[in-house]
Amino acid sequence: MYRCARKLHHLFRSLLLLSLMTATGAHAAEKIDLIIDTDPGADDVVALLFALASPQELNIRALTTVAGNVRLDKTSRNARLAREWAGREDVPVYAGAKKPMMRTPIYAENIHGVEGLSGVAVHEPKKGLAEGNAIDYLIDTLMAAKPHSITIAMLGPQTNLALALIQEPGIVQGIKEVVIMGGAHFNGGNITPVAEFNLFADPQAAEVVLKSGVKLTYLSLDVTHKILTSDARLNKIAALNNHASKLVVDILNDYIKADMAHYGIPGGPVHDATVIAYLLKPQLFSGREVNVVVDSSEGPAFGQTIVDWHDGLRAPKNAFWVEGGDADGFFDLLVERLARLK
Ligand code: RIB
Ligand code: CA
Repeated sequence: MYRCARKLHHLFRSLLLLSLMTATGAHAAEKIDLIIDTDPGADDVVALLFALASPQELNIRALTTVAGNVRLDKTSRNARLAREWAGREDVPVYAGAKKPMMRTPIYAENIHGVEGLSGVAVHEPKKGLAEGNAIDYLIDTLMAAKPHSITIAMLGPQTNLALALIQEPGIVQGIKEVVIMGGAHFNGGNITPVAEFNLFADPQAAEVVLKSGVKLTYLSLDVTHKILTSDARLNKIAALNNHASKLVVDILNDYIKADMAHYGIPGGPVHDATVIAYLLKPQLFSGREVNVVVDSSEGPAFGQTIVDWHDGLRAPKNAFWVEGGDADGFFDLLVERLARLK
């Protein structure tokens, strides 16, 4: 008799909870199964701390590293540093491509420093790299994944994913969407008058990813240059007064100097962190489905993303191009997440 009453009690409670959740719309959004491909890099590290501080929304399967801002050994060390600083050594780091698919390698040590992380002291993190390389990890994981279940955030040159797609085109079955920091249309470029660094560093890789047909979202300079630091915003981060916030302020104070001087703007962009904000709160951003092609021909337009914003060519739409963003909303979310770290 008693057992039956308890069962009824539990059943009643569950039904009550379910009805409450439905009534208030309080349903937990599905967690994003995420791989972050990155070339840390100052803004990459801010993005990684942001993402690693958001376990309720992001199930980060792994970090995969690529040469870009600096050489692969340093981008891989810096990814391990970000993981250590976030207290997330549960997340494996796989090292990937040492160089772009075809072009001669370029780096951005003049912006990110020789260690890829100017503004803070670096050290050899306790936990090492995972066994195996990032391209094999991407292939094995995406081939074994449930259909269209894994999101990939790309914060550097797209070499790793391109090589995986060439080696095993079937990996598209496991990809839900790819969210990319890269490209420029309205804003103009930051490494040439028309090209953005990540695309310029490996345009052939970006073409492979574009042609794969996976769902793509581009957060280009068009939006990252509308989400700029300011003294007030950096002071809000500093006021958190934890180790992570001090790292972020020191990293950004150094990183933004070049863009502020180059563009004569009052603050600097935190490019890669906008990808994480987009995953966490897409309503902060706006854009439209477009056709975009990448110019990988030798010449002044090398690495340019050519965006048919007004659909003049009536070509197939192959990417969602983000060009609007809520800067206050971005920094409020970044502060809220950094507050969770030590
Ligand atoms: O152009 C900005 C992009 O290039 C960012 O991802 C930055 O980290 C560099 O890789
Ligand atoms: Ca980057």
